[in-house]
Amino acid sequence: MILKGKKGIIFGALDTKSIAWKVAELAHAEGAEFILSNAPIALRMGTINELAAKTNSEVVACDVSQDEDMNNLIDAAVAKYGKLDFVLHSIGMSLNVRKKNPYTDLNYDFMHKTFDISAISFHRLMQTLMKKDAMNEWGSILGLTYIASQRVFPDYNEMAEAKALLESFARSFGYHYGVSKKVRVNTISQSPTMTTAGSGVGGFDAFYTYADKMSPLGNASAEACAQYCVSLFSDYTRYVTMQNLYHDGGFSFTGISSDVMEMVAKSGE
Ligand SMILES: NC(=O)c1ccc[n+]([C@@H]2O[C@H](COP(=O)([O-])OP(=O)(O)OC[C@H]3O[C@@H](n4cnc5c(N)ncnc54)[C@H](O)[C@@H]3O)[C@@H](O)[C@H]2O)c1
Repeated sequence: MILKGKKGIIFGALDTKSIAWKVAELAHAEGAEFILSNAPIALRMGTINELAAKTNSEVVACDVSQDEDMNNLIDAAVAKYGKLDFVLHSIGMSLNVRKKNPYTDLNYDFMHKTFDISAISFHRLMQTLMKKDAMNEWGSILGLTYIASQRVFPDYNEMAEAKALLESFARSFGYHYGVSKKVRVNTISQSPTMTTAGSGVGGFDAFYTYADKMSPLGNASAEACAQYCVSLFSDYTRYVTMQNLYHDGGFSFTGISSDVMEMVAKSGE
């Protein structure tokens, strides 16, 4: 029960595969109470009510690209719980990826939308929380990211820049929130994971297998990611802030693995 008595908001549970879904299940098992939030359209299409019943949570709609929605959500959370201890931002969307536009022929209106939903929303969330003084001291705010922010993965498209921006907001806002309220802000850089957002990336299956074979521990699952998130919401990680934390089975520090060497050797036979 490492989250006993802690209150929060979990964004981004669309269906049972979602990383946020696994975080909600585990946070509930560890004693947390929270509001579940997603975009209105996702609430209509997804199965979040099942999760809400299971975790005894309320669902509040919020399109994270809209100031008014964000204001209303934070007001609702504070009215219900008082100040919050944790928030998970588990949100990503790219219209250019959806429309399969190649990286060298992108639509800029779509790009603006991608950055707004996938990255600027993280700043919007933290700014709204700060203005409303909605976080308890030593609270924890987490975003989810992918290593394409730091290295080139051609099929990740404009989401690479969206994630670079997200990670940068975590560092910069983490400074300001740390100084003013002792709130910590981090991003977790997760292995490829079989979810709706994940499998939208071109060539995802090959991507997934390659990462699995490159990682000494193999790809980290959504369940394992949930465990890491819960540890970062707990009091055991109070001095971790402004970090981009790799949760990837060792992928990020592996130059090449014997498995991949073998695959390459075989393909040349
Ligand atoms: N799946 C992967 O391979 C992988 C790897 C590393 C990081 N991530 C990141 O993990 C996070 C969660 O993704 P996931 O893999 O669980 O997929 P997912 O599709 O289950 O979750 C993405 C969520 O974003 C929500 N969303 C989209 N537009 C929104 C808006 N305007 N307002 C509010 N919510 C909106 C969706 O409704 C959905 O619930 C994302 O940030 C993603 O980039 C995923």
